[in-house]
Amino acid sequence: MKSVESVSLDRIDQEKGVLARDILSPSSVLLLPAGLDLAALRTARPDMVGLLRKHGILEIPVKKHEPITPSEFRTLLHRVVPPVSTLDPLLAQVTVYQMDAVYDGIRKREARERGIRSLLSVAQNLPGEIRKGSQITLSLAEKPSAGEREALHGLNVSLLSGYISDRLFPLWRGFTEELTIGGLFHDMGKAFLGSPGESDGGSERIQLIHPLLGETLLRDSGIADRHILSSVRSHHEAWNGTGYPDGLSGNKIPLAARIVSVANLFDSILAASPEGERTRSDQAISSLISRTEGRFDRAVVRALLASIGLYPPGSVVELSDGRSGVVLETRERDLLRPRVLLMEGLRKNRERLPEILDLKKETSIHIRKAGDDYGRLPFTPLEREGRGRPRVVFRKNRAPAGIKIQD
Ligand SMILES: [Fe+2]
Ligand SMILES: [Fe+2]
Repeated sequence: MKSVESVSLDRIDQEKGVLARDILSPSSVLLLPAGLDLAALRTARPDMVGLLRKHGILEIPVKKHEPITPSEFRTLLHRVVPPVSTLDPLLAQVTVYQMDAVYDGIRKREARERGIRSLLSVAQNLPGEIRKGSQITLSLAEKPSAGEREALHGLNVSLLSGYISDRLFPLWRGFTEELTIGGLFHDMGKAFLGSPGESDGGSERIQLIHPLLGETLLRDSGIADRHILSSVRSHHEAWNGTGYPDGLSGNKIPLAARIVSVANLFDSILAASPEGERTRSDQAISSLISRTEGRFDRAVVRALLASIGLYPPGSVVELSDGRSGVVLETRERDLLRPRVLLMEGLRKNRERLPEILDLKKETSIHIRKAGDDYGRLPFTPLEREGRGRPRVVFRKNRAPAGIKIQD
């Protein structure tokens, strides 16, 4: 389901939905603001079609599903039993702030030991967030700027690596903790090689040596843990031996690095969306499957897919009966039939318990299309020299095993 569709003025009488964007005249005068409900618009502006035609506008962008905001969506999720847990926004903010500070310290050639120590102490809290549940909710939003992306990429790779490790080795807690640290630091070697825009993977030289610089930075800071060090050094090694810096292959690549490399690829796919658009999680998953063949450890890719599901929690889906909803939880054994929070009438009946459809039980209904991601986590960073807002963060969704299903 494309959540935004262009609707011809000829069809406007039969359509439901809201205006997805401001409608501007060719001279940029605002004709209709975004967010207006089409039905309300028809009553309030019976001259709408004539007005638009007069300005040469023959179709308008319409958002088809109910206009629930991310915060309304979160409120609804909290009414589900047991409650859905999300990544602590303050912890995300502080982590990104500390990462930014370390990057800055390296670039300005300042002493960085204190910054690294502070980041490590903040990062100790990330595994606790990971253990809140067994599934990942993708939180996608607008593209961050180059400077913002670095720190958020580190945080996302840290959390994703931790989720994969926790799924593969639930009893090996120390390993998950080490991987969250490795994920945070995996690309920090890039800071030695230029400003955020420059160090964005464009230069081949940066690409080839940043794992070694990152490993050296950690060793110099007194970190001797082999899983942390190997995850940074070897996160660009490839299963078929074509990676760098050591050209390792198969099981010779340290396990920690095999996990961080899959997390790294997935977050990079999400960030590499075309200008002005977000990569939807279902598109990112298709891309992940097609790009991992031969280069990545299949068991690790499978663990990531199982954590995310084909319809990740937070994605909007259109059902075969025409209704749409938001995926709450997927099951590892049946990724095609998740539990779905129906969006019909949610706005009108907010005081009622939201209606949840279990597709495993409702076998006559299936998912027709996957759409936009609703489970966004608006991310407000701590203020730091007037920078803009980082905007991509992963969060964790507790698998709501005991959800009450309404018939
Ligand atoms: Fe890297
Ligand atoms: Fe990376």
